[in-house]
Amino acid sequence: MEKLPEKAKTYHLSVFGCQMNERDAEIIAGYLEERGYKETGDPQKADLMILNTCAVRQKAEEKVYGKLGKLKKFKEDNPDMLIVVAGCMPQQEEVGKKIKSRYPYVDMVIGTHNLSRFPELLDRALGEKETVLDIWEGEGPVVEGLPLYRRSKLKAWVNITYGCNNFCSYCIVPYVRGRERSRQVKDIVAEIEELAGKGFVEVTLLGQNVNSYGRDLQDGTSFAGLLLALEEVEGIGRFRYMTSHPRDFTPHLVEIIRDAEKVCEHFHLPVQAGSNGILKKMNRGYTREHYRDLVHKVRREIPGASITTDFIVGFPGETEADFQETLDLVREIRFDAAFTFIYSPRRGTPAANMPGQVKQQVKKERIYRLIEEQNAISLEINRGLLGQKMEVLVEGESKNAGGELTGRTRTHKVVNFQGSRDLIGQFVEVTVKEAQTWSLTGQL
Ligand code: SAH
Ligand code: SF4
Ligand code: F3S
Repeated sequence: MEKLPEKAKTYHLSVFGCQMNERDAEIIAGYLEERGYKETGDPQKADLMILNTCAVRQKAEEKVYGKLGKLKKFKEDNPDMLIVVAGCMPQQEEVGKKIKSRYPYVDMVIGTHNLSRFPELLDRALGEKETVLDIWEGEGPVVEGLPLYRRSKLKAWVNITYGCNNFCSYCIVPYVRGRERSRQVKDIVAEIEELAGKGFVEVTLLGQNVNSYGRDLQDGTSFAGLLLALEEVEGIGRFRYMTSHPRDFTPHLVEIIRDAEKVCEHFHLPVQAGSNGILKKMNRGYTREHYRDLVHKVRREIPGASITTDFIVGFPGETEADFQETLDLVREIRFDAAFTFIYSPRRGTPAANMPGQVKQQVKKERIYRLIEEQNAISLEINRGLLGQKMEVLVEGESKNAGGELTGRTRTHKVVNFQGSRDLIGQFVEVTVKEAQTWSLTGQL
């Protein structure tokens, strides 16, 4: 008689951070799937609970502490459950220590630099009662060939650089992700060819500053060169990239993107603030005028391109007049959409100790005004698309009632429309019939 397989162990993975963090979660899932673990949607019953954490704002950290608090109860009900904290939070020295002392029921703490040791540390955690804590202070070389388990079958994220050298004065990322390291073009191309072979049709290239890709390799490798190489890969219909730094986005690169068929006409260009004084204190390395010239170049070369951005309000020393300059920039540029954040002081970053920290009440009031201004513009821009035909990659069923399909345009706008499930994974033409602030409704 055939032996029944042992009941598979299950894992539950919570992701708190950015695309890099999602990508690391795919690597963790890859290790676990390799060992026969299966993903479960029910965290209470999981044998292994992993929190892949983010440190970029205090709110992100609070969510993790909240979840750790809840897990105490889960663990009491299910003492065999193993709890793992991974990601950017424990890369901060004091956080690793805090987790170990305040949440002693956490079994394993691992940082971002030593992810390739995940299996080894897991083995130790399975055998030891004490919390296994392993954090590397510095980054190692780029490790290729890590296993990974991708959730989507259509869209894939591919790292091109790790880390960041920019040290924007508010940002924790360079401290928790280390210095910028680029992967070799050939490794990236090989990974994407493999993805194409598996049926993926859209790839997003990931880096904290994709525009400085290749600089550290010192052999002439550049982001523009990489895009040209990728144009040759068959089977992938769309390339996207995240994130661009306005300082390093050259006019030449805009022209490359204009001529590249597969690179989408969407420019996510985080500006952060509209006042030159604040930009300088943020150490962003560009002025409002430079930014405006870049946007003009994009619009001149690629009519119809969408432009999105990130803003931080309430940076130390931001006066009402500075904030007015941000509102002014919003009206002048007319972004398709913006992610808006309240400045959150991060320990160890220069801005955390700058004079003129803005009161929470003022920050909140400013972010509401900014969102209001931007939402009105997003809606106007989307209404301007009524009647237009757009290419949509059908990604799945929409969460809305009514069994609609959902997908995105090349300009990264969400479109919902009626259609048959067979279309999932295909590129279709949709006519825009209705416009909302955050999405469009269309007809095949
Ligand atoms: N490398 C990317 C992404 C960094 S994090 C970039 O340079 O754009 C994503 C966004 O979080 C940033 O663009 C910024 O707007 C925001 N952010 C980063 N640190 C922050 C902080 N301390 N407080 C509030 N927002 C922050
Ligand atoms: Fe942070 Fe600036 Fe690097 Fe982006 S470019 S990750 S905001 S330091
Ligand atoms: Fe990303 Fe948050 Fe780390 S934004 S790089 S997961 S601190």
